[in-house]
Amino acid sequence: MEEGINKRKTEHIRLCLNDNVEGVNKSTGLEGISFIHNALPEINFKDVNLETSFLNKPLQAPFLVSSMTGGSKLAADINQNLARAAEEKGWVIALGSTRALLESDAHQESFLIRKQAPTVPLIANLGAVQLNYGYGAEEAQRIVDMTEADSLVLHFNSLQEVFQDEGDLNFDTLLPKIEALCKKVNVPVGAKEVGFGIDGPVAKKLYDVGVSYIDVAGAGGTSWSQVEKLRSEDPMRKAAAEAFNNWGNPTKDCLVSVKSLLDNVPLVASGGMKTGVDAAKALTIGADVVGFARQLLQAATESTEAVIKQMDQIEFELKTTMFGIGAKFLDELKNTKRVNIMGRSLLEDNF
Ligand SMILES: Cc1cc2nc3c(=O)[nH]c(=O)nc-3n(C[C@H](O)[C@H](O)[C@H](O)COP(=O)(O)O)c2cc1C
Repeated sequence: MEEGINKRKTEHIRLCLNDNVEGVNKSTGLEGISFIHNALPEINFKDVNLETSFLNKPLQAPFLVSSMTGGSKLAADINQNLARAAEEKGWVIALGSTRALLESDAHQESFLIRKQAPTVPLIANLGAVQLNYGYGAEEAQRIVDMTEADSLVLHFNSLQEVFQDEGDLNFDTLLPKIEALCKKVNVPVGAKEVGFGIDGPVAKKLYDVGVSYIDVAGAGGTSWSQVEKLRSEDPMRKAAAEAFNNWGNPTKDCLVSVKSLLDNVPLVASGGMKTGVDAAKALTIGADVVGFARQLLQAATESTEAVIKQMDQIEFELKTTMFGIGAKFLDELKNTKRVNIMGRSLLEDNF
């Protein structure tokens, strides 16, 4: 019988697979961006090139499997499938919260996926709030060493914790602890939300204490107030979570806001990413890498091949977008004028 963290993780997976866990009337904001078709692309589709790099390692495509899970038999199968697929496709792979690795003996191997993903960037994950609950650089380094990760990402999930009956709510004075951790851990430390979004001012504070990259994990996809509403046994919390079904900073707004304050910091777009067209839009407004979580979850419960198929589709959609505007390389996509952003065409001077 599973208990504690591992039981919670299994419930999260089951709810995300079977229930409606998106925010209500909430979108990423990316629908306000559209590309301007180029009838004369002057490139061969087969030459469209998605190669890039992240955390000093090459990627075959600008994509990341966002943090999801670990710590149960189900999580072990999911992580194996995600890791093998990420290695095959040259995507970044991130683990779900690795706290269970230190706190529970059960299914530790579910986090140890370096063998399945020997060459791609691998990111370990820890809740930032745990720095107020007895965790520090030493534990973080142990997690990095055990998982053989290239980076550790701290997740910021204040409102998820509020709606968990067992939540950790002391988010006070984390910045100096994050600063100390960034100084001591021997890999780059990133920061992510879990679906309510990191905006520019928050990203700047984190960057100023040593965080190396920002994953906005904005609103428009999985909503953790919705997930915890379904789990909660406390009627007051359940009702309150429903009142927050529209909460969060849309992914598009987060990207624009972070980019305006931190132009050169590696930026991951995630939160509500479903297709390669979504990814193309995010890259156009400043993202370097695009992360997918729940969009890959169903396939990850099936097989490595099912995940690869989903990844192939996302890549095909990104390549087709680039072909559609005549961009052969990602830099051309990122700097294209063939885009209409919130009603403003960057081509308009030429019309
Ligand atoms: C089943 C599941 C488990 C998750 N567990 C974690 C976690 O342990 N740590 C974390 O930082 N984010 C976790 N997330 C959040 C995702 O990384 C992501 O930020 C969020 O789901 C929004 O992306 P999406 O709309 O693509 O799902 C989880 C997401 C899912 C679907």
